[in-house]
Amino acid sequence: MSGEWVTRPAVIGAGTMGMGIAEVLATAGYPVSVWEKSPPVLERARAQLEKRLVARVAKGRLSNEEARAITKRIQPVQRFEELAECELVIEAIVEQLEAKQSLFAQLDELVAPTAILASNTSSLSITSLAGSTKRPERVLGIHFFNPAPLMPLVEVVRGAETAQPLVERVCAWLAGMGKEPVQVADGPGFLVNRVARSFHTEAVRMVAHKLARKEQVDRILEGAGFKMGPFALQDLIGIDVNFAASVSVYEGTFHEARFRPHYQQRQMVERKALGRKTGKGHYRYEG
Ligand SMILES: NC(=O)c1ccc[n+]([C@@H]2O[C@H](COP(=O)([O-])OP(=O)(O)OC[C@H]3O[C@@H](n4cnc5c(N)ncnc54)[C@H](O)[C@@H]3O)[C@@H](O)[C@H]2O)c1
Repeated sequence: MSGEWVTRPAVIGAGTMGMGIAEVLATAGYPVSVWEKSPPVLERARAQLEKRLVARVAKGRLSNEEARAITKRIQPVQRFEELAECELVIEAIVEQLEAKQSLFAQLDELVAPTAILASNTSSLSITSLAGSTKRPERVLGIHFFNPAPLMPLVEVVRGAETAQPLVERVCAWLAGMGKEPVQVADGPGFLVNRVARSFHTEAVRMVAHKLARKEQVDRILEGAGFKMGPFALQDLIGIDVNFAASVSVYEGTFHEARFRPHYQQRQMVERKALGRKTGKGHYRYEG
């Protein structure tokens, strides 16, 4: 099936993931509308994107013209109502069920009945987001990984009522953009984040029990073939985002003990040690 069904996608939230997804779509040639509730965040995200593109031009991976075209295709939206014409909206806001449900209900009122509503959630129930709309068959998860422009894997999550032909169509569309879509049924943490819970939380517990230092855990797991150790990866993901995923998988499994988060994860969020984005997390970052 062709990708022509989408001519104007939108992304909501211009944080780590939203801006990365916008870059993927703009690189594939789509004009992308981006809605972010905090204008300074959007400004900062655009400036960072431009810096990344300049670096790619300097490395000879992109021409100046391509970089300019990508930046131009990413169009900030001033008013939420301007999203009304979009045929596909990918939501990448904070990992909180109520916030996402409320956004999906608003989008459902705004966009055409044929439009598709997708979430980049790491772990929240797609079925429950679909339940806040009158189009559950047109709601699905399109879960990009961080950094979205570089990571080929995308989990395409089928909610309890998502139409299978839509899932197939989205997979074909993503594959056309050079991504590797993997279909997954809805369930706490889907596939990757369910398995990754142990990777992250077990590492935190080991260090809390003084069995090893963070640097050792990271070094050993990287030596064993993981691209990043759990602490370096949590800093990249965002301590808050990773903690939210831990909590949601724990709650989604009706408190299965093996998924219980560690209180030190919450303490890091409380003291705003959120990883690279705040300059401090498990490690410290300059600039
Ligand atoms: N960070 C990761 O590694 C990663 C990977 C895959 C998926 N995700 C998921 O992607 C989503 C976004 O994560 P992130 O890391 O980009 O978070 P982030 O905190 O960097 O960005 C979220 C952005 O959404 C904005 N926002 C919040 N509510 C909004 C609303 N109602 N309307 C418009 N904008 C709003 C915030 O101002 C913020 O800029 C989450 O669901 C997260 O679980 C994150």
